[in-house]
Amino acid sequence: MMAAMQTRYLLAALVALTYLVFCVLTAVRHRSARQRQQAQWGTAQGDAVLVAFASQTGTAERLALQTASSLRQAGMAVRVLPLDQIDDVSLRAARLALFVVSTTGEGDAPDMAAQLAQQISSAHADNASAALPDLRFGVLALGDRNYQQYCAFGHAVQAWLCRRHAQPLFDLIDVDNGDEGALRHWQHQLGVISGHSDAADWSAPAYGRWRLAQRERLNPGSQGAAVFHLRLTPLDLPAPGWQAGDIAEIGPRNSDDEVQRFLRALPLQQDIPYAELAARQLPHDAAVLASLRSLSGAALIAALKPLPHRAYSIASLPADGALELMVRLMHQPDGHLGLGSGWLGVHAQPGQEIALRVRVNAAFHAPAAGQPLILIGNGTGLAGLRAHLRERVAAGERRNWLVFGERSRQHDFFLRDEMQSWQADGWLQRLDLAFSRDQPQRYYVQDSLRENAETLRQWVSEGASIYVCGSLLGMAAGVAQALQDILGQAELQRLAGQGRYRRDVY
Ligand SMILES: Cc1cc2nc3c(=O)[nH]c(=O)nc-3n(C[C@H](O)[C@H](O)[C@H](O)COP(=O)(O)OP(=O)(O)OC[C@H]3O[C@@H](n4cnc5c(N)ncnc54)[C@H](O)[C@@H]3O)c2cc1C
Ligand SMILES: Cc1cc2nc3c(=O)[nH]c(=O)nc-3n(C[C@H](O)[C@H](O)[C@H](O)COP(=O)(O)O)c2cc1C
Repeated sequence: MMAAMQTRYLLAALVALTYLVFCVLTAVRHRSARQRQQAQWGTAQGDAVLVAFASQTGTAERLALQTASSLRQAGMAVRVLPLDQIDDVSLRAARLALFVVSTTGEGDAPDMAAQLAQQISSAHADNASAALPDLRFGVLALGDRNYQQYCAFGHAVQAWLCRRHAQPLFDLIDVDNGDEGALRHWQHQLGVISGHSDAADWSAPAYGRWRLAQRERLNPGSQGAAVFHLRLTPLDLPAPGWQAGDIAEIGPRNSDDEVQRFLRALPLQQDIPYAELAARQLPHDAAVLASLRSLSGAALIAALKPLPHRAYSIASLPADGALELMVRLMHQPDGHLGLGSGWLGVHAQPGQEIALRVRVNAAFHAPAAGQPLILIGNGTGLAGLRAHLRERVAAGERRNWLVFGERSRQHDFFLRDEMQSWQADGWLQRLDLAFSRDQPQRYYVQDSLRENAETLRQWVSEGASIYVCGSLLGMAAGVAQALQDILGQAELQRLAGQGRYRRDVY
């Protein structure tokens, strides 16, 4: 009897120890991932992030302060300065700078940045300015599409920094008349920079009701994290439309286990609808839980922040009868499933309702008709590219070239049948695959581009546009460098200016 009890205690201790080791290993892995990420952003030694703004009527200033506050809440040091107080010394001292700038007049800079605007437009000053190869930056450009020179000053700042060899962290985000979707996209990038993706949305999307109709794993047996192909159908009619390039913003929900954990930690005096708890951030911290103990009903709900949205590239067209996504399962530092990918990939069950809103993403809409298209992407980046391919097939456009990368042909060739049948039927004139781990030496999409440099130059000379979709950290910089080496920086900038080089990277 005693021996059996001892064995049981021993087993329980062993299980607890194994769990502890798992948690410590996960935390260490995530800490080094965050350190790697912060080193990549140049913020490893606690360098302050520079947030610069140029504002005429105060909006850009307010958003700059909100940006700074988000980064500070994530533990980063931040300096906020009006653009007219920025000089080369401050640009060189900051290794990461974020610019929030509006456009006024007819494509003009706000008054406070008039001097810098003059400098930016003078080629002579450009030659005199030193290069900024160590500076990484992002630009949030405020404007209004009703004006002919939409977000012109933001674009001028972006081009000026590129000419000085500073490195964009992500593509310029333009904000049409305060568009909240674009601001949520900026917030996503702040989350990637700081390594904290749990901040509440500055403004929550007005979600519609959709049903998870089907979920299928795309990469069984893969060495990498699971990737799922989801089909969602609208419950509210008429269903919203969308086009290739647009984004689905989903409202994640907590798992049942998470809600139960919260209810155990904070026995409620009063019934609160389960759905309300499922859609809110449920604290773990004992002190925070204690502070909530005296609240009930509406006061408790008001004290719990709503869960932030997550964005996913739409992989289908309305004519397909469903909104399709490709979602990779992510994990949080404590080993729990990622909020959005855990909800879509594991917790939500087929048949269940999903909160979703379609966000127009004009920056990644289709190129002009009749022109060739080169599509480059890795992993779930195939989602956004596939919507374009479906749109091209429907429009009878045959000059398509897909460069797709993943780990192994055997397990990670997503939508193999569809891709191969498009190739066989002439809808994909070229299909180049880069499976990084199928040979001793790693091989990525950028390597494939370099091998096909001559063909790429040929397609571009025939009017091709280049669309890139997929991971910001894993792919975007390598592809940008390869394109720059193949086409030249000036040509790549010219293509971007003409809307022929577009990216949807995250
Ligand atoms: C415009 C846009 C389109 C997107 N399209 C897709 C898509 O088609 N398919 C898809 O699977 N995802 C896509 N994403 C990413 C997606 O929105 C989520 O960021 C991702 O699913 C992780 O969220 P999560 O809530 O599951 O994980 P979280 O709970 O946010 O975090 C889990 C862990 O992952 C890390 N993490 C979160 N996001 C990133 C990132 N971007 N890069 C590196 N580490 C990160 C966090 O730091 C954390 O450690 C897109 C993002 C944007 C902005
Ligand atoms: C007088 C005036 C002129 C504007 N001119 C432009 C313009 O040429 N291009 C553009 O994209 N937006 C233009 N806008 C829109 C502003 O950029 C947009 O409203 C922005 O949010 C204002 O930011 P701010 O408050 O920081 O100045 C103009 C707005 C005003 C009031």
